[in-house]
Amino acid sequence: MIPIKDEKEIEIMRQAGRILSGVMKRIALMVSHGDSTLDLDKLAEKLIIEAGAQPAFKGYGSGRNAYPATLCISVNNEVVHGIPRQNKKLQQGDIVGLDCGVKYKGYFSDMAVTVPVGKISSEAQRLINVTKNSLDLAIRTIKPNIYLGDISYEIQNYIEKNKFSVVRQFCGHGIGRELHEEPPVLNFGKKGTGPKLSPGMVLAFEPMVNQGRYEVEVSGDGWTVVTKDGSLSTHFEHTILVTKKGCEVLTR
Ligand code: MF3
Ligand code: CO
Repeated sequence: MIPIKDEKEIEIMRQAGRILSGVMKRIALMVSHGDSTLDLDKLAEKLIIEAGAQPAFKGYGSGRNAYPATLCISVNNEVVHGIPRQNKKLQQGDIVGLDCGVKYKGYFSDMAVTVPVGKISSEAQRLINVTKNSLDLAIRTIKPNIYLGDISYEIQNYIEKNKFSVVRQFCGHGIGRELHEEPPVLNFGKKGTGPKLSPGMVLAFEPMVNQGRYEVEVSGDGWTVVTKDGSLSTHFEHTILVTKKGCEVLTR
């Protein structure tokens, strides 16, 4: 069952989304040569708590392998779930995926962007643009009574037309009282498949796009996902409410 949010829940999720997008904007503007990824993480945590929310990723999972940080910071060939570390410093020419979630009054919001550090290669910039455009295309497509697969198809088609590849092993998700709810939101697929969309569903769309092949693997720290072929990867994500007429991006 895909949860349908009522007006009261939606209003809280709007607030959660506003807090998260505000924090993300500030962190994204901070990113520069020489920054320690752990310093960015600490700042994000402080801003979230000041806003009256809590980091959603910290402690996610259980036991020894619980996620240890507020942000996922995934640099260059890292796809998602990069763990911030003090001695991991950003450099001119890097592309940096910033992924963050917050919990506010019992509801989650989730968002990611990829930003450059200084001047980057034109191919890296094209990868960023195509990934962001694929999410914007999804946003223009989302409306009630179409199939989730219709959107997955549009995302994949656009990315592959541009000669990049879509990560298969990870996907987006429903979101609300839990960070990950039904349904899985794939970035590849066929028209006319999957559940039909209805007003009140809240979905996190998060295309992950590789410059080279689509295969990825989890590295030695048990979290950081990297491309198998070492090529660059980018990630954008928004938390999106399906409305009567189309959709509303809650993390804008
Ligand atoms: N945006 C990712 C997701 O929704 C980030 C999760 S990081 C984790 O799955 F630590 F919470 F797993
Ligand atoms: Co997510």
